[in-house]
Amino acid sequence: KNTRLLVFAGSAREHSFNRRLARVAAGLGRDLGAEVTLLELADYDIPMYHADLEARGTPADVLRLKEAMDAHPGWIVCTPEYNGSYTGLLKNTLDWASSPVAGHPVWSDGSRPFSGKVVGMLSASNGALGGLRAQSHLAPLLVNLGCWLAPRSHALSRAASAFDDQGGLVDPAQQAAVRAVVEQVLWAAGRLHAPSAS
Ligand code: FNR
Repeated sequence: KNTRLLVFAGSAREHSFNRRLARVAAGLGRDLGAEVTLLELADYDIPMYHADLEARGTPADVLRLKEAMDAHPGWIVCTPEYNGSYTGLLKNTLDWASSPVAGHPVWSDGSRPFSGKVVGMLSASNGALGGLRAQSHLAPLLVNLGCWLAPRSHALSRAASAFDDQGGLVDPAQQAAVRAVVEQVLWAAGRLHAPSAS
């Protein structure tokens, strides 16, 4: 059975570099035989988290998001860099996704749907570092939640000139670097989530 890969970007901007990079990663995942879901955070109506809101009931779109996350053993997260870190959109989304759903048969524990997921990090920025500092903040959050981070990640610098008209990456070396991350995620997710032999 093909490994299921979830790909999403921490930006809702229409011409987001990270959404474009997410599309590249999704295409590579399909080329590598994965069953890919490209998720758009812009399609989820998720308010800014606070505990009183949560106490009134987890929003339907948070449940929808948790379902999508739960159904995929491998994830690729493409983060923009805002002020040296990842975006508020991503933080809010991950905070909601990690908050326990009281009385729910599987989501009453906040580590679900994160625990055991294999996650590859990508970032894109028009700057020289390609959003690398955003990844350095995102990594501990994911690890705290029980994700297995792929050893490889990739930061796409000079993003404004990195894509061609078809949405592909101009530089084959950049393409190969993204592919290497996707490959590691699929490799590890396929093994960690292989059906047990017993
Ligand atoms: C930025 N940007 C930015 N870029 C960067 O490389 N390092 C940084 O620290 C910041 N800081 C920052 C703060 C704020 C508040 C904004 C709005 C922007 C620029 C940012 O990388 C750029 O807007 C990207 O285009 C955002 O990613 P998407 O939406 O294109 O995926």
